[in-house]
Amino acid sequence: MTQDELKQAVARAAIDYVVDGEIIGVGTGSTANFFIDELAKIKDRIKGTVASSEATAARLRGHGIPVFDLNEVESIAVYIDGADEITDTGAMIKGGGAALTREKIVASVSKQFVCIADGSKLVRTLGAFPLPVEVIPMARAAVMRKLRELGGQPRLRTKAGSEDAFITDNGGEIIDVAGMEIADPTGVETQINGIVGVIAVGLFAQRGANVCLLGTADGVKTLAF
Ligand code: A5P
Repeated sequence: MTQDELKQAVARAAIDYVVDGEIIGVGTGSTANFFIDELAKIKDRIKGTVASSEATAARLRGHGIPVFDLNEVESIAVYIDGADEITDTGAMIKGGGAALTREKIVASVSKQFVCIADGSKLVRTLGAFPLPVEVIPMARAAVMRKLRELGGQPRLRTKAGSEDAFITDNGGEIIDVAGMEIADPTGVETQINGIVGVIAVGLFAQRGANVCLLGTADGVKTLAF
């Protein structure tokens, strides 16, 4: 099976976690896009969605699925999203698609977090994938110095084919931090959250996944945490 077929398989399996008549939180990225396409097939069963990025909102609307502003919503039954890395305790690195801050916000108000990922995302220790950190642009250099002190090698994310900084949906910039072997995801999340100028860090440990649907050659495996 190709990686895309594995992503499609977990996206299909995630439909079992959709709660009828409720608001569903929807993540960002290629796996989340497959999920949106599956959700479109059962859109009449749900009240609507909250999107974790402008790109996701546009894809949902393109399918005629209602998208609510989070401020209009009291609770979200389930949040379904991909990950860049996930451990066997449900801690994740996310933000490869630059949507980490809104993903964290939507996940924080969701009753359940279902991570959908192809098998390559399961790791023993987080950190081989450079850790994304969203920052206020004026704090970029100061935050990079602090991240170096923590042992990382920070690099400003740029727009494809350009030297200009990539700008997020929130007007922030992304620093990708290589060389972090993250033995204590909750502790590192707290540490980086405490750096002034950081909007959010792409470590999802304090609010990790409740379930991971992992696409493997032997089928979709369910890990519950
Ligand atoms: C988006 O900002 C990310 O958190 C994605 O969830 C993550 O990068 C996984 O993306 P793919 O599903 O494209 O691998």
